[in-house]
Amino acid sequence: MPGIVLVGAQWGDEGKGKATDLLGRDVDYVVKFNGGNNAGHTVVIGGQTYALHLLPSGILTPGVTPVIGNGVVVDLEVLFSELRALENRGIDTSRLVLSSNAHLIPSYNRTMDKVTERFLGKRQIGTTGRGIGPTYADKMQRVGLRVQDLFDSSILRQKVEGALMQKNHLLVKVYNRRAISVDEVLDELEAYADRVRPLVADTAMLLNDALDRGATVLFEGGQATMLDVDHGTYPFVTSSNATAGGACTGSGVGPKRIDRVVAVIKAYATRVGAGPFVTELHDADGERLREAGREYGVTTGRPRRCGWYDALVARYAARINGVTDFVLTKLDVLTGRDKIPVCVAYDVGGSVHRELPASQSDIHHARPVYEYLPGWDEDISRSRSFKQLPPNAQAYVTAVEELSGARISVVGVGAARDAIIQRHSLIP
Ligand code: IMP
Ligand code: MG
Repeated sequence: MPGIVLVGAQWGDEGKGKATDLLGRDVDYVVKFNGGNNAGHTVVIGGQTYALHLLPSGILTPGVTPVIGNGVVVDLEVLFSELRALENRGIDTSRLVLSSNAHLIPSYNRTMDKVTERFLGKRQIGTTGRGIGPTYADKMQRVGLRVQDLFDSSILRQKVEGALMQKNHLLVKVYNRRAISVDEVLDELEAYADRVRPLVADTAMLLNDALDRGATVLFEGGQATMLDVDHGTYPFVTSSNATAGGACTGSGVGPKRIDRVVAVIKAYATRVGAGPFVTELHDADGERLREAGREYGVTTGRPRRCGWYDALVARYAARINGVTDFVLTKLDVLTGRDKIPVCVAYDVGGSVHRELPASQSDIHHARPVYEYLPGWDEDISRSRSFKQLPPNAQAYVTAVEELSGARISVVGVGAARDAIIQRHSLIP
């Protein structure tokens, strides 16, 4: 009964789509358990590039049942436009299942996301503006709207009325926006009800039954460890649990059913949006990483901040998630360098930290301490076994593995679907 969790180890965009795609061939279900259309997975199949935001990337793999779990926040307009785009390209999307407990992102929360960011001024988070934070805030405040509410119009009306009672005061009096009417929200949401109905199921039951039958279930985390609302660099985080624990709460499956925790980690580091990033580069090296790694946001198009591999972050991710296997991606982006810095410690005002400091202020003031590993010039994008890698590339992987707290089971060496080196199987 293998349950496999897949998470990002850094700040997202580690190349999870590729790992899911690799695993997808051997799994029966792929479950998205957190986040919403703030994510962006790029999957390249047969020369075709697919950019997915809300849908689990398992939707691209024939035979896999993609599941949107209760922990996800769903923008119905985005859901159906992504489905339509895939169908237009000949992808069968009919197996998609949606939790009746997932929360909906009403358009007023997209408005809220943008106005609250503006009001934060210098303390902006740099959100994706998709209404993610306000929708999770509503969920916790217990004024959220759930998928199942679409099928009970009197309940939906009551809930929308309740939510707008607060929102309209804020919108009008604080943010100087127009008030929103209950009817316009109901019209917007109920227009989707008939199309949503056939997708909806008790997904917790479905997944537990599947595991009972011996099916393989992949729980795919959106965002990443350092963006987790509890364990990331708060407040510069997303609003959900992107770490392995979120797989359980966000899907209704108990922790004992998880057999493997796979974390995807880039051979360097990137971050979009604001917040501390100790190994960030502001020079030509950073620019080179951005261009070589095509580090521009899938969701927002923003140039990503780039920096070197941070072993403290890797070990932190290993600890918080209980990582059993790392997938190290984009090793090819490091090709053509004399020496490759790897951060092995932080210097915080003269004191050396070997583990990620518990105090956020220390992280903000930390300076990276680097070890320099020798680089390589050979094109590695066609290597398909560890031994085919140039000795210095092998040494880089081995050194990083030793620093990072779990084995590196897969190495990504190029953008193509098959551009990977598999050292250990990810399937139990
Ligand atoms: P939100 O998730 O839109 O609220 O944005 C909060 C922070 O998380 C911002 O810094 C975003 O750039 C970042 N973020 C959210 N989703 C992703 C993702 O999928 N990849 C990378 N960063 C993300
Ligand atoms: Mg992304």
